[in-house]
Amino acid sequence: MSNVVVVGTQWGDEGKGKVIDFLTEFAQVIVRFQGGNNAGHTIVVNNEKFIVHLIPSGILHGNKKCVIGNGLVIDPAVLIQEIRDLRSRGIDVNTNNLFISEKAHVIMPYHKRMDHAREKAKGAKCLGTTGRGIGPCYEDKAARTGIRIIDLLDKDVFLEKLKAKLVEQNFYLEKLFQEEPVDLKTTYREYLGYAEEIRPYITNVSLLLDRAIKEGQNVLFEGAQGTHLDIDHGTYPFVTSSNTVAAEACIGTGIGPLKLDTVIGTCKAYTTRVGGGPFPTELKDEVGDLIQKKGAEFGATTGRRRRCGWIDTVQVRDSVRINGLTGLAITKLDVLSGLDKIKICVAYDYQGERFIHIPPQLKVLENCKPVYEELEGWQDNIMDARDFQDLPAQAQAYLKRIEELVGVSVTLISIGSRRETTIVLQNPFK
Ligand code: IMP
Repeated sequence: MSNVVVVGTQWGDEGKGKVIDFLTEFAQVIVRFQGGNNAGHTIVVNNEKFIVHLIPSGILHGNKKCVIGNGLVIDPAVLIQEIRDLRSRGIDVNTNNLFISEKAHVIMPYHKRMDHAREKAKGAKCLGTTGRGIGPCYEDKAARTGIRIIDLLDKDVFLEKLKAKLVEQNFYLEKLFQEEPVDLKTTYREYLGYAEEIRPYITNVSLLLDRAIKEGQNVLFEGAQGTHLDIDHGTYPFVTSSNTVAAEACIGTGIGPLKLDTVIGTCKAYTTRVGGGPFPTELKDEVGDLIQKKGAEFGATTGRRRRCGWIDTVQVRDSVRINGLTGLAITKLDVLSGLDKIKICVAYDYQGERFIHIPPQLKVLENCKPVYEELEGWQDNIMDARDFQDLPAQAQAYLKRIEELVGVSVTLISIGSRRETTIVLQNPFK
């Protein structure tokens, strides 16, 4: 029995979907613990591409329990659409394989409207959110005025909460942002309809996991976004509104920290970021363009072009510590094939001062210059490698250097989008 957490070590989009899809084979239960439909995991099975935003990608494996924890914010319309889309493509979604926490918070129409209105008002200084209402929904959770999944199931409780909320939200929308107000009756009816559709899946996730763990089942905790988008530990304020780090696997599902055995950090062989915020190793040249094109670096949720740059071991080193990583899963190594030279950022230089950890002041970080080590690239196509030894010597040296710099071993290497294009050095479930 083993419980494994997978998180991102960068700014999201590290290829967690592929790593989770691979590990799912060895788990009986797969759980999402934070975020919402700002995430998007792309998985390729039998040359068919699936993108899931809320439901754990384990759903593609058939007889796995897929769980949405209390730490998430759920847009019920998106969830229902996802269930329908999966079914229409022959994936069975039923009450034996999908479970939704009664304590998760619900994304309401005013959350999405506020998200857009705020971003619009910020203009060039906007965060570049996904516009899904994630931040405003988590705000209400913290303000103790949020609507939880369980509240939707009680018509009176829901009406009372919605009424109170609309007084406040419509004031902001109309008076502060000159936007249309949200209509009480329409919203109430719409969401009661959603409640009926999702009612069969709603459960106490903490109890479900406790039982599964006691029975000796393997549980896989599926992180979303990345460590440096974490509300506490990320590049604040250019972050998402949830805790994206491994500790949230406990809080966002209702299990104790001693139940976690292994924490795998997913790390792209280079770095990408969508939305605003500092990015010391960003490449605004033809190498950045090449990586972007070759890696097909477009956001799975918004389709935005991702900013690309060299790997930043200052960032990944911090992720190793903050998450207590036991291993690294390096993804998209194949994208770097064909480059003459490859750079690794080993430290930052700020006005002559060296940093090997990310400074907390935005102004300082924005003006940090990466200190690089240059390594030889490799020209071979590496997608057929199935063993570490099959990789070109330069690729092996690149991975070894990353291990040295961040202080944790590489346990899995992904060299293509298909399930087979994976080199496993150590399976955390075995
Ligand atoms: P929000 O989560 O929509 O509020 O967006 C806040 C920031 O996090 C923006 O820069 C987004 O682009 C970024 N973000 C949110 N979710 C993801 C994700 O799954 N991958 C990458 N970036 C994300």
